[in-house]
Amino acid sequence: MKSVPALRSIRLAGERPAADGMLTDVLRGLAAKPKRLPSKYLYDARGSELFERICEQPEYYLTRTELAIMRESIGGIADALGPDVRLVEYGSGSGLKTRLLLGSLTTPAAYVPVEISRVALLASVARLARAFPHIEMLPVCADFTRPFALPRVSRAPRRTVVYFPGSTLGNFEADEALRLLRQMRAEAGQHGGVLFGIDLVKDRATLEAAYNDAAGVTAGFTLNLLARLNRELGADFDLAAFRHRARWHPLAERIETDIVSARAQDVHIDGHTFHFDGGEPMRVEVSCKYTPDGFARMAARAGLRVAGAWTDPARQFSVQWLRVV
Ligand code: AVJ
Repeated sequence: MKSVPALRSIRLAGERPAADGMLTDVLRGLAAKPKRLPSKYLYDARGSELFERICEQPEYYLTRTELAIMRESIGGIADALGPDVRLVEYGSGSGLKTRLLLGSLTTPAAYVPVEISRVALLASVARLARAFPHIEMLPVCADFTRPFALPRVSRAPRRTVVYFPGSTLGNFEADEALRLLRQMRAEAGQHGGVLFGIDLVKDRATLEAAYNDAAGVTAGFTLNLLARLNRELGADFDLAAFRHRARWHPLAERIETDIVSARAQDVHIDGHTFHFDGGEPMRVEVSCKYTPDGFARMAARAGLRVAGAWTDPARQFSVQWLRVV
């Protein structure tokens, strides 16, 4: 087996997503009725840091439950995925779950994290490269919601597995989620599969507490989006005049997170003026929750079949292994 040389020789494929893409998206979102901002912009360096802190909050059960499932069932999960896998991860977090997976898979061929934040990508791949010096690391800095080229692996993989943990799929509207599933199916290709972490539908109190933690970390995470627009686009949001609000919508089966204007006010960005009424909401995130059946139906529409499912004793969260049909 070829050993991967020093960290400095790890190439970073892809380009930093252009800043004018963000300006265009933001101007379009603020002109829309109701106003909205793409949730992917929550993750600048500060946002990624705040998200890590959300994961440590007692109310935010998702991360620790997913990790517990992975720890408990890693043998069965690794068996299901099989040997010599090219593991493509959409997004890269602190790398704990990935570490478990890479440490348990039989001779994985390569690890390919695809992440929009260059800082987060480099930090996580640096840690993983130290822990797994024999696994080829092929980081790609890209917006995974758009098609991107998968880097070539030195050793021929047996199959491609796309890994999408953290219930990140839940941050996409139903039609976008379906499109993303189809893209993943195409990337996994014949004999491939997708390993998901998905949050399950449960009672309102548990869900709303998870997105309104008592320490206010989630509120800080949401409002950091406005601070980012001030910093990077020269906007003039008055941070004290906007509030975080996250509510469970039972019919849509999702948490809807809005930034609400506390009073009537105008905001300026790049020569444009946007008026907010008092109490006007601006949608910044949805976090869809799933039932196992609902998830299987959506996956089937994307040409993916459930081949394994693991959950915690309280059935709060689920890890799902889907194979390309
Ligand atoms: C990115 C899916 C893990 O929606 O639960 C956490 C982001 N937003 N708290 C989620 C988030 C507010 C999170 N995931």
